[in-house]
Amino acid sequence: MDWAQLRAKVAGCTDCKLRAGCSQTVFGVGDEKAQWLLVGEAPGSEEDRLGDPFVGQAGKLLDNMLAAISLHRGSNVYIANVLKCRPPGNRDPEPDEVAKCAPHLWRQIQLIQPKVILAMGRFAAQTLLGSDATIASLRGKVHQYAGVPLVVTYHPAYLLRNLPDKAKAWADLQLAKQTVAEH
Ligand code: URA
Repeated sequence: MDWAQLRAKVAGCTDCKLRAGCSQTVFGVGDEKAQWLLVGEAPGSEEDRLGDPFVGQAGKLLDNMLAAISLHRGSNVYIANVLKCRPPGNRDPEPDEVAKCAPHLWRQIQLIQPKVILAMGRFAAQTLLGSDATIASLRGKVHQYAGVPLVVTYHPAYLLRNLPDKAKAWADLQLAKQTVAEH
């Protein structure tokens, strides 16, 4: 599948129960040749309304963090989620939903061929690494997803509630930046 086919597949997808309850699919946004791929969990209410990932409060924090390392969405950065449809009431993704939707993300990764994947939060990290380990135990090292270096960090929505952990997220960004420079 090329980009156009993948977009059409996601836009028309009814493979799981989420599509019936959301307003639109949220495919992903950014530079299709980006060195940085940021992966979150699933669209929230603002993302569902506007059709782009990370456009709510968590997205503003994410944009600020990116700006601090001279990165901007759309320029050498691509942002996507594990799930392309909003779970009702922002509940956690369910295993069958992840199983149906993750192949869209796998294909996005193949098409982008980033130099680093930043997995933000438990769902992104666990889905991409096939692990049930905690964020705390996965942070601080460079993992691999299909040959692409992968760094785990906190989800921006978590950071909004736990400001002291921003310093750790900053360290994670530095690790990702170093990884890009080395590859
Ligand atoms: N949280 C996510 O994981 N993804 C979004 O797009 C927005 C909030």
